[in-house]
Amino acid sequence: MTAPILRSVADLRAATAPWRREGQRIGIVPTMGALHDGHLSLVAAAKEKCERVIVTIFVNPRQFSTPEDLANYPRTEHADAAKLARFNVDAIYVPDGDQMYPAGFSTNVTVSDLTDVMDGIHRPGHFAGVATVVAKLFAQSSATDAFFGEKDFQQLQVVRRMARDLDIPITVHGCPTIREIDGLAMSSRNLLLSDRARTVAPALIDQMEAMADAVAAGRDPAAAQSDSIAALLRAGFTGVDYFEIRANDDLSLLTSPTRPARLFAAAWLAGVRLIDNIPVQT
Ligand code: PAF
Repeated sequence: MTAPILRSVADLRAATAPWRREGQRIGIVPTMGALHDGHLSLVAAAKEKCERVIVTIFVNPRQFSTPEDLANYPRTEHADAAKLARFNVDAIYVPDGDQMYPAGFSTNVTVSDLTDVMDGIHRPGHFAGVATVVAKLFAQSSATDAFFGEKDFQQLQVVRRMARDLDIPITVHGCPTIREIDGLAMSSRNLLLSDRARTVAPALIDQMEAMADAVAAGRDPAAAQSDSIAALLRAGFTGVDYFEIRANDDLSLLTSPTRPARLFAAAWLAGVRLIDNIPVQT
């Protein structure tokens, strides 16, 4: 069944008010659309845990680094609604721009520390854009539970910290990364890859696994890292923003994985920036 598409805060509040009165668990799955199986796995997780599920679709201008990146971002609302039909979600929230950022909007939610590394450095302002829009979506929906992919692990940790610091009564769930058959992490940005670049893209996860396996086998992480980066550049990647092991909790850099940690990577292929992360053995 196609869910109602709501475009204003007032309509969203009118939909959720009776659910809240009845004490139902309301799950929110924030997205920017161009839905793929990774997003749909979040919807499935929300359906399992919550009586009501809202999927939000909003291409958030505040989290893009350049106007070109924002303009190129895929927008596929009709196809997205069709993909959601089989999940029987309760509402699809597609707010108009002025519902999120009305004239005179002047608040910015910034989370420090966790954003001083990786994408926080390479995409200045990105996480403030994410934290601001997610805080608004949490406030507008009064959701009890929120579902985010581990593919964007830094984002997941930033959102958790933001909700905790602002005392927002919501449980943030991290859900496993969903991959294509060749290992490439699903991402809306994969749609921007040419056919040729798409064949090269799995080298990223291959090299991440090579480094993780080498470190687990006792190899020096710095040597394994430089071999993997060299292999990526040979394969056709044009640059690597980071390729490093960091702690899960505070994202601090680890020279060797002595506590729960992940290998995080961001690399450029044919003008498209791919990111991924995998757990490493401690
Ligand atoms: O992960 C995304 O798609 C976006 O960053 C999010 C969480 C929907 C905020 O715009």
